[in-house]
Amino acid sequence: MLRVLFVCLGNICRSPTADGVFRSMVASAGLSDQVEVDSAGTAAWHIGKTPDPRTIKAAAERGYDLSVLRARQALATDFDQFDYVLAMDLENLSNLRALKPAAARTDPQLFLRSFARRFNSDEVPDPYYGGADGFEQVLDLVEDACEGLLADIRQRLNQRAKETP
Ligand code: 4NP
Repeated sequence: MLRVLFVCLGNICRSPTADGVFRSMVASAGLSDQVEVDSAGTAAWHIGKTPDPRTIKAAAERGYDLSVLRARQALATDFDQFDYVLAMDLENLSNLRALKPAAARTDPQLFLRSFARRFNSDEVPDPYYGGADGFEQVLDLVEDACEGLLADIRQRLNQRAKETP
């Protein structure tokens, strides 16, 4: 099993979008039994809440159902539980680095910098205080980087399959 955690600030806009998009791509690839997907926020404000209604609506228009997701806060134990801890922006990355215990396994990384292919940017901008365009931009960026991430995961799964005959 490979485990992926997407992290933003509130876990109601950007990281749930990535969670839903990537979950859907993993299912289409027939890899749901080998890849686990989750998301979290660095802040505690929205624990237990569904994603923002604007996030749910924009995602639904592209065929992703985010309504079953519930917000949670990122935990120190996540860095041992997950193989990828993916930050949506530089502030999330800095907060994750501060949360990670020194001996924990997985270093957080910037999601777009590591995996985007069409877009050359570091951050998924926070859409919370902006208009509808921001939510479309989140989806565009996230879909691009999720494709890159899926390619990386396929390689890792193939490598593992070769190592364990
Ligand atoms: P997210 O967006 O980090 O993409 O979930 C935000 C959600 C809520 C707030 C800020 C950003 N907030 O200030 O409550």
